[in-house]
Amino acid sequence: ASAEKGGFPSFMEKEIHDQPAAVHDTLLGRSDTRGRLILDELRIDPAELKQVNKIIVLACGTAAYAGMVAKYAIENWCRIPTEVELAHEFRYRDPIVDKNTLVVSISQSGETMDTLMAVRYAREQGAKTVSICNTNGSTIPRESDAVLYTHAGPEIAVASTKAFLAQITAAYLLGLYLAQLRGNIFSGQIKDVLADLNKIPEKIQRVLDTTGPLRELARSMKDEKSVLFLGRNVGYPVALEGALKLKEIAYLHAEGFAAGELKHGPIALIDEGQPVFVVVPSPRGRDSLHSKVVSNIQEVRARGARTLVIAEEGDEAVREYAEHVVYVPETPPLLMPLLTTVPLQIFAAELAAAKGFDVDQPRNLAKSVTVE
Ligand code: G6P
Repeated sequence: ASAEKGGFPSFMEKEIHDQPAAVHDTLLGRSDTRGRLILDELRIDPAELKQVNKIIVLACGTAAYAGMVAKYAIENWCRIPTEVELAHEFRYRDPIVDKNTLVVSISQSGETMDTLMAVRYAREQGAKTVSICNTNGSTIPRESDAVLYTHAGPEIAVASTKAFLAQITAAYLLGLYLAQLRGNIFSGQIKDVLADLNKIPEKIQRVLDTTGPLRELARSMKDEKSVLFLGRNVGYPVALEGALKLKEIAYLHAEGFAAGELKHGPIALIDEGQPVFVVVPSPRGRDSLHSKVVSNIQEVRARGARTLVIAEEGDEAVREYAEHVVYVPETPPLLMPLLTTVPLQIFAAELAAAKGFDVDQPRNLAKSVTVE
């Protein structure tokens, strides 16, 4: 078994380290040198895809957070209203779906019962269905009109890591493809995004190569009772995913919040010594989100929080207010989740291991949930 783990102490650690390859392989062969997307596998008539006026992303767990990330990019590039919904909520609320709706399901296993039932329902209503899936020939892709496989390779650890980054990558390719088809963005812009995506694997590797201080921090926090995560824009689902990892494998109370919600409730939780991870948007992003989130760091710190910050290299503004900073390489703001998620995965894996838990087989959870 240790050989299967590639020398890592757990499948989860191995899979975290597989992420440069997972993203690389998911990008591979899906564009040409001129920067055009080639998704021949997406066997839905392009004329029909042009008619799409609403996208609904359906998933559960980590895959749903990948969907939340994708929404920001798809709406930005395609100008198609995009909703993200937990599959089990969607099914039972009489949702509005028709032939111009594109339902994008995201599932690592392709067997999650709630997601499958939601896809079936959407298809019965006449929606077009695309599955983003990591398991060849599984049920959800077989029951969908088309499939875009993530090429992350088999994921063994119950808590999802490499599938998550591959799902975001595949959803981004789908978004770019729809934008290309509909002529929403300039071909030069698509080419630039593809070039930036192609640089992601090497940047993930750089994050993986410098985890010493982060692991030390995680081990020092093994007796914490609660950890909070704040993020904004694409950093919001990253915060949710960071919290989910801690719940799943470290059995530690953790909550992710949209940083803008802080003043509407969560800030009441902050007292002396409360650890708060803050996923900071790129200082090069629009709408001065960066300075707003830096203010949030100051606000929680002023109330005694321990501020643990994930920020972009060169972002010196956060240093002053951060007890600990993890820097990730520069990338366009929409692509940041492909980097900022990685330290949070490592933090959870290291902390859970320090508590002596089986990182790969957490209690009460299953890799694939094939019951309702
Ligand atoms: C289970 C797993 C999670 C996963 C979720 C969705 O709860 O423990 O890691 O995110 O199912 O699984 P799927 O295979 O549909 O992506």
